[in-house]
Amino acid sequence: MLLNEPHPLESRVLTRRYVYPQKDAIGIDQYVSQQGYDGIRKALEMTPEAIIDEVKKSSLRGRGGAGFPTGMKWSFVDRKSPKPKYIVVNADEGEPGTCKDRVIMEHEPHRLIEGCLIAGRSINSNRGWIYIRGEYRKYIDIMDRAIADAYARGFLGDNVLGSGWTFHLSTHTGAGSYECGEESALLESLEGKRGNPRLKPPFPATSGAFQCPTIVNNVETYSAVPDIILNGGDWYAGLGTPRNGGTRLVCLSGHLNRPGVYEVPLGMNMLTIINEIGGGVWKGRKLKAVIPGGSSSPILRAEECDIPADYDSLAKAGSMLGSGATVVLDETADIVKVLSRLMAFYAHESCGWCIPCREGTAWLKKILARLDEGVGTKNDIDMVDQLATSMFGRTFCALGDAAAMPAMSYVRKFRDEFEAKLNSTQVFVPAPQTQPLVVL
Ligand SMILES: Cc1cc2nc3c(=O)[nH]c(=O)nc-3n(C[C@H](O)[C@H](O)[C@H](O)COP(=O)(O)O)c2cc1C
Repeated sequence: MLLNEPHPLESRVLTRRYVYPQKDAIGIDQYVSQQGYDGIRKALEMTPEAIIDEVKKSSLRGRGGAGFPTGMKWSFVDRKSPKPKYIVVNADEGEPGTCKDRVIMEHEPHRLIEGCLIAGRSINSNRGWIYIRGEYRKYIDIMDRAIADAYARGFLGDNVLGSGWTFHLSTHTGAGSYECGEESALLESLEGKRGNPRLKPPFPATSGAFQCPTIVNNVETYSAVPDIILNGGDWYAGLGTPRNGGTRLVCLSGHLNRPGVYEVPLGMNMLTIINEIGGGVWKGRKLKAVIPGGSSSPILRAEECDIPADYDSLAKAGSMLGSGATVVLDETADIVKVLSRLMAFYAHESCGWCIPCREGTAWLKKILARLDEGVGTKNDIDMVDQLATSMFGRTFCALGDAAAMPAMSYVRKFRDEFEAKLNSTQVFVPAPQTQPLVVL
């Protein structure tokens, strides 16, 4: 259980039904007794256009990473297409530092089911899947139980709440690959194939699962929708900042006194999140840097952190809100080691489909390992930046960018730390021949 005791500065909307500390998931009876499934009851009386308009008004943006406007994504689906339309939940939660989707599934699985129902209704879909990473066995079981209860009570099935509309939903287990969180690779995996990314366009809204129009959204994105329908898009938008509606779950980790998952309004100052909600940097140390939105997001130096934590403000600061995983690094953190560890992750997780990502992440891992061990050269530091720059934007999916962005930002913002490590050992091993890399 990761959800912390509520902090007075939190705005609990998605997490408002949790009673801290609650051991078991909120069951169907408790959910229904607290307005649960009232959102889909209301949506069944609305036109699909009206549902999508409400989601557009809410300024809800995707909580999985890219922050794409949700209502707009839904409006791209051709509801009148003769093909089946599908709903897919991205519960792969692979971004290092991110642990919020599991909190939603662990505590309130029916919220996610209701979000899928409303999304399904809005695009005239009859079928959905929740794609959950294989390591989340516990949450797969919780979701399966909740889905069975929802079928038994008529919320799912051939005649949802007596409306004549059919909607079926099931879980699909992934096998623990970071790449399978990328929406097109996820769809390949869902279809039973190797999880390689697809060329886009076409985007899933036009050609997704089994070449049919498909909405892919994150767990948290769908889970925000029941309250938007119940209380109105304007109400939800008003909780955040313009173009950044609502609240979001922040996964606070690293060198903090109170790490955990918290729900805050979009636009809350990053330093307030760290110092007030997270209890400040641990052991009385100073803040060195923050990774604001999962390991792919460019790093922020301490002096850059006095900003609103919303999509637009972080983009303006050269970083991103990403998956809401905020990793705090104190003054003792070894930036070279952090980047070296991250590149080992990306090299391991690259699916190998695109050469710049496959080769680039492997070389970044290798070069950073020797920089970290104190046997790198000054040329290696420039090579990290050059390599990352030449990978960026040159791959089918954004995994290449996800590795390149931290590499470029760490080296540019903390070059002094990379240089300080150059001669940290007596043994000097010349770097292997690196010249051919320049052609990448
Ligand atoms: C390598 C990679 C891994 C990703 N992993 C996830 C993930 O685990 N969960 C997720 O929701 N989105 C992930 N995404 C983003 C998805 O491709 C997609 O943008 C998202 O599911 C859309 O939903 P949203 O609009 O609700 O955010 C990943 C993207 C990339 C490039």
